[in-house]
Amino acid sequence: MSWGDIRAGRHGGSIEVPGMKHGALSIALAGFVMSVPAGAEEAQSFSKDQIASGAELYAVNCSPCHGARMQEPGAAFNLRKFPPDQRERFVNSVTRGKNQMPPWGDFFKPEQLEALWAYVMAGER
Ligand code: HEC
Repeated sequence: MSWGDIRAGRHGGSIEVPGMKHGALSIALAGFVMSVPAGAEEAQSFSKDQIASGAELYAVNCSPCHGARMQEPGAAFNLRKFPPDQRERFVNSVTRGKNQMPPWGDFFKPEQLEALWAYVMAGER
């Protein structure tokens, strides 16, 4: 059906445009409200298991650039200095990559990312 057909419609009235999206903005905004565990700073107690599996993941995937046990990171970021209150940034940087660091995308499951975070925060202290 062309616009000509609609204009010439027998109703002779106004044209209705179907699917006008009201509320699209609020839906978009709702998408930004990510669930962040309450009190990111308080939630810094990690289980030994978590730290251990984080250490394993780190040794395999991260140590080539960030240094064994986060020592001697060379040109890469010194992860022992990563700010503890910026978990979100950690997850984003690992997932999306940063400059020379490759984006890991969904290579890690959420609990593996959490384990890496646990290791970075508590593993070598
Ligand atoms: C190919 C080398 C390489 C590998 C592998 C790598 N990184 Fe990185 N990473 C880098 C470099 C280089 C930077 C510094 C990026 C910059 O700021 O320019 C970096 C930065 C970071 C940062 C800081 C980002 C920020 O917000 O400033 C974090 C966190 C990080 N890496 C975590 C990891 C973790 C966790 C792994 C393992 C899953 C990993 N990286 C594996 C090279 C690497």
